[in-house]
Amino acid sequence: MTRSAHSLGSVEIDGKRAAELRRQLLRWYDRCARRLPWRETRDPYRIWISEAMLQQTRVETAIPYWERFLEQLPKVEDLALAEERDLLALWSGLGYYRRVRSLQAAARVVVDQHAGQFPTDKNQALALPGVGPYTAGAVLSIAYDQAVALVDGNVLRVFARLFALEHALDSGELKRKSWGLAEALLPRRSRTRKTGPGAWNQALMELGATLCKVREPDCANCPLANFCLAKAQGKTAQLPLAPRRKSATQVQLEQLVVLNKAGLLLVERPAKGRMAGLWELPTRECSKEPATHLYPSGYPEIGANCGWSAGRELGEIRHGITRYRIRATVRLGRLEGRLRPAGSLRRVALASLERAPLTGMTRKALGLPGVQEALGE
Ligand code: ADE
Repeated sequence: MTRSAHSLGSVEIDGKRAAELRRQLLRWYDRCARRLPWRETRDPYRIWISEAMLQQTRVETAIPYWERFLEQLPKVEDLALAEERDLLALWSGLGYYRRVRSLQAAARVVVDQHAGQFPTDKNQALALPGVGPYTAGAVLSIAYDQAVALVDGNVLRVFARLFALEHALDSGELKRKSWGLAEALLPRRSRTRKTGPGAWNQALMELGATLCKVREPDCANCPLANFCLAKAQGKTAQLPLAPRRKSATQVQLEQLVVLNKAGLLLVERPAKGRMAGLWELPTRECSKEPATHLYPSGYPEIGANCGWSAGRELGEIRHGITRYRIRATVRLGRLEGRLRPAGSLRRVALASLERAPLTGMTRKALGLPGVQEALGE
């Protein structure tokens, strides 16, 4: 399994050293890997769902979502046939809702064109909606133990430190060099799964997730400490170089809890754009200028039907959507007149809220003690 220094591209490491590095990391992974539910299976569908969830979500958050998703949609055929509303409800709170729509579109291709089996061919995998090089690498290597490399945010950080790559985290150079390294270091001929491409890819990600963390990396326990150029050069805290940050935009919102005997008033978002098709509390923006126009400054859906007024405060949440740092004050809302739920307005019985495709922000608001109390009154 030795490889020449040349095959590592612009990064210097000889074949013997690369082989030793591989051995150390795989041994550590075999001993120390976290027991995660998607590591107990080789089913490509289950692994695919976990990787789709893990792209923007932490492991601890993803576990209950993954379990619920697969309990309700245990086979790729179930995903292909699921109602969009149920799908969004299963994803509610994970954000990036386009992902779950792509997942369903891809599931339909898998069912129609690949007899229900996630493709074993990399190009066919890459042709599926929403499947990029990372997901293809993850599913093919973990489920089928194919020699397909991958790079995610954790791997970028591991390589930036291991090889002292002085590039910003969001730079093309770091990505390019990391993909080159991932290809070059990937074990291709292994006798067991424990030392194969699936174990290797997971070991790299696991190292980034558990020891080679963004802040305070645990070098004392790192199996690669002896290979790490950043450690040797005292640069672990600087590397990878911080990206030039686009500054966050502060947003002040108000959300209304409007209740009657029939249930809670929600607004369905438009079919296109951010969080398309999800349901949320009536929301308006009340930031001082400049407003972001993330939400309208009034409640047009209600206003078109009748008047409204904002009552007592039930609590406040903080929430992040891309670069927006949101503070939302949640208030009891009162309607002045009769409201006919029409257009995008929905009345949802409290008992059905759990199954509604709510936005993450609304789910958070509904979890506030003050809101829970108001719902129980
Ligand atoms: N992050 C995303 N997928 C992962 C995996 N399979 N193992 C470890 N970390 C991950």
